[in-house]
Amino acid sequence: MPQIFSPQADSTLRLAVALGLLALVAALVLAWSLARSDRAWGVRQPLAQPIPFSHALHAGGLGMDCRYCHSTVERAAGAGMPTAELCLGCHEQVWAGAAVLAPLRSAIELDIPIAWRSLHRLPDHARFHHAVHVQNGVGCETCHGAVWAMPQTVKVEPMSMGWCLDCHRNPEPALRPREAVFDRGWAGAAPGGLAEHVGLTAGSITDCYTCHR
Ligand code: HEC
Ligand code: HEC
Ligand code: HEC
Ligand code: HEC
Ligand code: HEC
Repeated sequence: MPQIFSPQADSTLRLAVALGLLALVAALVLAWSLARSDRAWGVRQPLAQPIPFSHALHAGGLGMDCRYCHSTVERAAGAGMPTAELCLGCHEQVWAGAAVLAPLRSAIELDIPIAWRSLHRLPDHARFHHAVHVQNGVGCETCHGAVWAMPQTVKVEPMSMGWCLDCHRNPEPALRPREAVFDRGWAGAAPGGLAEHVGLTAGSITDCYTCHR
């Protein structure tokens, strides 16, 4: 009977199988790291907004307090978004009639909110509460970065479950005194311990039930 495989066939096959496995592992590692990359979470990618609003101008240059526009951030789950009337409080005088501000007028005429696009929106199965964090001394800056310096708003942290848990496992080093929550570029020492628990749940903040229900 003639020989079907050459004497080298066995080692060639072994090499091919080894290379194939290596390529598969490399592809999986690449896919895994891409899925977890900041880009996949939309970090530092601005969204087109109905009005080209600038935090750098309003919260930075004009020095406006975050609570002027996000007025429920200390007492509710949602931070609250400014109404068209609130913007027009100034823009009846400043830039009145400017084309970029037209969506303010139509929002009022149609009696609908301005359609701001959210950068941070979590999926429906996850739950977040601003007041609990703010009352316990987590600064806006810790989660949202230097918003007052942003001409276009971006998110600076992924808002992934892993990111939430990194802090929930050991929040104390990330805390500030309650009065410093709105401070810009705060660099003091963590006070240690949780300030004032607003008491939504008892139990551990790493339990699934804290964020999913
Ligand atoms: C406390 C007053 C005040 C409020 C409230 C206010 N603005 Fe302004 N806004 C200003 C001033 C002052 C300027 C700068 C005008 C200039 O430099 O010509 C400005 C500029 C702007 C500009 C032009 C930006 C540019 O690129 O030059 C836009 C757009 C704008 N504001 C949108 C808004 C929106 C939307 C709201 C509501 C969420 C709002 N403003 C609320 C005072 C205000
Ligand atoms: C003059 C009103 C005004 C002030 C003052 C203001 N904001 Fe905003 N904020 C807005 C508007 C309008 C938007 C929606 C457009 C955008 O994303 O830029 C917004 C969006 C945001 C978002 C993104 C929300 C999302 O949908 O994901 C964050 C975070 C935020 N603001 C934080 C802050 C912080 C922190 C401060 C204080 C340093 C502040 N803002 C001050 C008007 C304001
Ligand atoms: C612990 C992290 C954290 C802190 C601290 C925090 N935020 Fe947020 N913020 C979020 C998350 C997460 C969302 C998205 C919430 C959702 O989709 O339910 C969000 C959403 C927002 C929004 C969009 C409107 C809304 O409520 O969904 C605004 C505006 C905002 N934050 C402003 C602020 C301001 C101002 C402060 C400081 C007083 C602050 N945030 C503190 C994590 C944080
Ligand atoms: C920098 C730290 C930090 C980050 C980041 C953070 N948290 Fe928290 N979280 C806290 C602290 C501190 C508390 C308050 C704990 C307490 O009162 O015992 C808290 C409490 C909570 C509670 C309320 C528990 C209750 O009392 O009902 C929820 C819900 C929550 N976090 C969800 C989230 C989610 C979702 C994210 C990510 C999008 C997140 N947190 C990111 C620090 C953080
Ligand atoms: C501190 C808040 C927090 C806690 C505690 C938490 N999660 Fe999550 N979880 C989130 C957030 C925020 C998301 C959405 C972002 C994401 O997919 O990472 C999420 C997403 C998920 C998803 C969907 C993942 C996907 O790819 O869509 C699953 C499944 C999940 N969590 C299960 C759990 C289980 C099981 C536990 C308990 C062991 C748990 N979570 C505890 C905040 C939390």
